Amino acid sequence: MVRLRSAMLGAVCALSVGIIAGCSCGDCGGGSTVQQVNPVLDNIMTRTSIRQYQPGRTVPADTVEILLKAAMAAPTAVNRQPWTFVVIDDRSVLDSLMAVCPNARMLGQASMAIVTCGDMERALEGEAREFWVEDVYAATENLLLAAHALDLGAVWTGVYPSSERVLGVRRVLRLPENIVPLALVPVGYPAVDPEPKDKWDPDKVVYNRWTDSVETE
Ligand SMILES: Cc1cc2nc3c(=O)[nH]c(=O)nc-3n(C[C@H](O)[C@H](O)[C@H](O)COP(=O)(O)O)c2cc1C
Repeated sequence: MVRLRSAMLGAVCALSVGIIAGCSCGDCGGGSTVQQVNPVLDNIMTRTSIRQYQPGRTVPADTVEILLKAAMAAPTAVNRQPWTFVVIDDRSVLDSLMAVCPNARMLGQASMAIVTCGDMERALEGEAREFWVEDVYAATENLLLAAHALDLGAVWTGVYPSSERVLGVRRVLRLPENIVPLALVPVGYPAVDPEPKDKWDPDKVVYNRWTDSVETE
């Protein structure tokens, strides 16, 4: 996997993402990418959705715990941590989830999945209640990044805000009313090695104001 990651880094380097001038590492032809000099950024830039997993290889319990710890390390509004994570490693439950979430067909190959959920009893009140979505999104991304760092493969499959999927997942997992499933993340050992996508687009960045026109103020 280290070799594969180096190859991916080379590809990303060629795409000129975050070039640092004057690198003397000798491996990147004189300019190295930000991620090449920082393992955290390397992990962020090389993560990609993995939808195929090695059959029969299960994820050890201590590894699952690391994924959960990473998820719970995410920032949350007013530090409310309004979440619950449901770990599923029972084949019959995984199959039932696949039946209610056709967008998560890869569950058929995965030996486990984690459903990231919001807990409305821990959410903020009033308009701020909706921050639970951002909080659980941040946790879900942390989970994906941790999986990648551990040479696992994972993919975010959307549950919330599809009311049909929320209801289906809630029924399968027998969730109480205050628990809202947000994302279903199948996890396994990758059976494929896709190139990370280059999403850097300077045209999607605005500095200071959208326009200089005073009329918009
Ligand atoms: C909110 C959200 C919902 C997603 N839902 C699905 C899904 O239902 N099925 C799926 O295969 N991938 C799903 N994805 C993964 C995206 O397709 C994937 O992140 C995107 O194509 C970018 O590719 P990358 O993750 O490899 O960078 C979802 C991602 C997000 C953030």
